[in-house]
Amino acid sequence: MPEVQVYSDPGALARAAAERFVVLAKDIIAARGRFVVALAGGSTPRAMYTLLASEAFAGRVDWECVHIFWGDERCVPPIHPNSNYRMAHEALLAQVPVPEGNIHRMYAEIEPSRAAVEYERSLRAFFALDNANQFETGGFPSFDLILLGMGDDGHTASLFPGTAAIHERERWVVAHYIEKLEAWRLTLTPPVLNAAANIIFLVSGGGKAERLQQVLRGPYQPDTLPAQIIKPVGGHLSWLVDRAAAELL
Ligand code: 6PG
Repeated sequence: MPEVQVYSDPGALARAAAERFVVLAKDIIAARGRFVVALAGGSTPRAMYTLLASEAFAGRVDWECVHIFWGDERCVPPIHPNSNYRMAHEALLAQVPVPEGNIHRMYAEIEPSRAAVEYERSLRAFFALDNANQFETGGFPSFDLILLGMGDDGHTASLFPGTAAIHERERWVVAHYIEKLEAWRLTLTPPVLNAAANIIFLVSGGGKAERLQQVLRGPYQPDTLPAQIIKPVGGHLSWLVDRAAAELL
C-alpha cells in the first residue's frame, strides 16, 4: 500500500511537500552530487513551489546541483498562461539559483510529436551522462523525485482516461490530443514515471475526494483511473493530500 498522509489544509500540504523536497534533495545530493526532479503542473503544486523559493526553504537546497524536468506539459509556448513551465518558473525557478543548463523544459511550442521526440532525446542524453544513476529499471531512467497531481477525472501527468498513453511501454515521452480538452499534451510515460526512486502525489480539495477514494481504495481500472497506473518498480510512492480530498478515505 502506498503511503498516504493527510494534512489539515492546502497550506499544511504545501509545507509538508516542500519539506520532503528539501530532505530528499539534501540526502540525494550528499549521496550522488545531484538531484533530478520532474515537476508536476496544474495549480496544486504552485503553493509548494512558492514555499520552496521562500526564505524558510530556499537556503536549505543546493540549487546548483538540482536538475529540473517536467512530467508533462501543455502544447503551448513557455510564456502562455497555461504553460506548466511558466507556472514553475514564476513560482520557483526565477527565484532560486538553478543553473540555466539544469532546467530542461519541454519544447511544447513546436509540433507535438516532434516535441515528444526531442524531449526523449534530451532525457536519453542526460541520463546517459548521469553515471550516478545506478537505479536503472528495464532501461528506463530513474528520476530521484517525480511530483504528480491528480485531476478530478483520475488523470495524472497527461495520462488521461481512455488514452493509449496509459499503456505505452516503449517510448519515454508521448504527445497526444486530448479530446475533452481540445488540446495537445506532452507526457512522460508510465514506465518512466514508475522508474522513479520517489514519487509524490499532491492532491487537494473536496472536488477530488470521490476520485481519490476510487483510485486508492477501489478496483484497479487504470483506463478509467490513470493515476492507478503509478506503481513505482522499486521506488517509494507517497500521497500527500489535504483533509478535504481525504474526506472519503
Ligand atoms: C497538468 C498536470 C495535471 C495536474 C492535474 C491536477 O498539466 O495539468 O500535470 O496532471 O496535476 O490536472 O491539476 P490541479 O493541481 O490544477 O488540480
